[in-house]
Amino acid sequence: MSQSLLLLTKSPAETKRLGERIGKLLLPGDVVALSGELGSGKTVLTKGIARGLGIKGNPVRSPSFVLIKEYPGKVPLFHFDLYRLTKPGELNTIGYEEYFSSKGVVVIEWAERAKNFLPEKYLEVELSIINKNERKISVKMKGKGAS
Ligand SMILES: Nc1ncnc2c1ncn2[C@@H]1O[C@H](COP(=O)(O)OP(=O)(O)O)[C@@H](O)[C@H]1O
Ligand SMILES: [Mg+2]
Repeated sequence: MSQSLLLLTKSPAETKRLGERIGKLLLPGDVVALSGELGSGKTVLTKGIARGLGIKGNPVRSPSFVLIKEYPGKVPLFHFDLYRLTKPGELNTIGYEEYFSSKGVVVIEWAERAKNFLPEKYLEVELSIINKNERKISVKMKGKGAS
């Protein structure tokens, strides 16, 4: 059975801290798939992950007009935002698979839009809005070898 960790955060700062803790645990080549409606905190969590990875400078923002933005660091972050993806096949045109086997960590916002494109193994984080300041966040290891 697949285990999941269920958390409730009560502020953006708390969600960012959670991201930071996750970021500290990630290794090069890891993929984190974020799903959840607009405003659920995916970008806030990603900012925390970037901090946890030790990425400095250029603050993480929603990459509005690009599907992928790279943040350099000892372990670089490849931030995918699939909000503007019109059809999943579009991913093939950007060679997305190469990022999965790179020296960086991949974080994908709106991963539910590209379910069939995810690698064999990834960390699934589902966010949902409880009310103005509370978010429910579930964290689960998916894929081969996950139990
Ligand atoms: N507990 C919380 N965690 C994360 N964001 C929160 C929380 N409470 C309120 N917010 C607000 O919700 C919004 C989340 O935005 P964002 O991270 O850009 O969402 P997404 O990337 O999922 O669309 C921000 O305006 C943030 O201030
Ligand atoms: Mg976002």
